[in-house]
Amino acid sequence: MSSIASRVALVTGATGFIGAHLTSRLVRDGWDVHLLVRPGSDLTPLAEVWEQVRSHSHDGTTGGLLSIMEAVAPDVVFHLASLFIAEHRPADIERMIESNLLFATQLSESMVNCGVWRLVNTGTSWQHYESREYSPVNLYAATKQAFEAILRYYVESTQLRAVTLKLFDTYGPGDRRPKLFRLLRQLAAQSEPLAMSPGEQLIDLVHVDDVVEAFLLAAEMLFNGEVDGNEDYAVTSGSPISLKALVAQYSSLLGRDLPITWGGRPYRSREVMVPWHLGPTLPGWQPRVPLGDGLLGIIAEVTGHSDR
Ligand SMILES: NC(=O)c1ccc[n+]([C@@H]2O[C@H](COP(=O)([O-])OP(=O)(O)OC[C@H]3O[C@@H](n4cnc5c(N)ncnc54)[C@H](OP(=O)(O)O)[C@@H]3O)[C@@H](O)[C@H]2O)c1
Repeated sequence: MSSIASRVALVTGATGFIGAHLTSRLVRDGWDVHLLVRPGSDLTPLAEVWEQVRSHSHDGTTGGLLSIMEAVAPDVVFHLASLFIAEHRPADIERMIESNLLFATQLSESMVNCGVWRLVNTGTSWQHYESREYSPVNLYAATKQAFEAILRYYVESTQLRAVTLKLFDTYGPGDRRPKLFRLLRQLAAQSEPLAMSPGEQLIDLVHVDDVVEAFLLAAEMLFNGEVDGNEDYAVTSGSPISLKALVAQYSSLLGRDLPITWGGRPYRSREVMVPWHLGPTLPGWQPRVPLGDGLLGIIAEVTGHSDR
């Protein structure tokens, strides 16, 4: 087994929220880190580590990816690239399939052709609506499942071994995604009330530092030869909280009421009221960042105060 200092990682989705955190951690831990980016990728989230990583621009073709894989010859691929769209429209189909299925298949094909046998893949708890074995909340979740079906072919027919980490909601510093906490930040600066759903849906929130730890542990399992085929694990907090309670906690830590009209709009169709709770957790992993500490961290990022 290679020592960590000599380990080579190829990361996809490194410009994304979790990918940027994972990349920083790999650099800190002494890995030789290679990133797979696109010609138009916004590299801002990687500014702090840019000098310490090598990036490879993918032209979208299978041949292009094969050449990168051959040149990098990684010990492990961390595959986080994906296009998330909660409620898709017809115009989104091509780019969703391209990002979530075509690109992921090109990646697997390149890996097996280059003898790269360790993959940490990223799934979603939304593959399990109402905690069913498979029931996609939306088309995005269906594309994640479709890739796992394809991955099965590669692991059954080659030495490729994979761990698929099924993520729930994530949060932490440096989050530029148009999700809940960005919305709450905007709300804190306005008086106009925002109509939200009744807020009784449970949110399973995991801090990004804990998510990164799960990726590292999954890689370790692959290095130790402990993985059979493609193994799925849930990266869950184990203690979901209602949206309303979460916003109340955030608002109290912020020291400001947020102008929200609860029940001002209906739940989404196929809203996840109770997150998937039947998935196995990664052996040896558990979330360590308490919600209150994590929320204070993102509040401090905006206000500059961490002494509340
Ligand atoms: N964050 C969550 O709460 C959550 C929950 C469940 C599952 N997940 C999964 O976790 C992973 C990371 O999520 P995230 O929230 O950190 O992602 P994110 O911030 O939305 O970033 C997505 C990343 O994917 C890259 N990408 C998209 N299409 C690509 C393509 N065709 N080729 C190459 N790169 C492509 C983007 O690169 P560009 O810079 O080029 O656009 C970007 O780096 C994803 O697989 C996501 O589905 C996340």
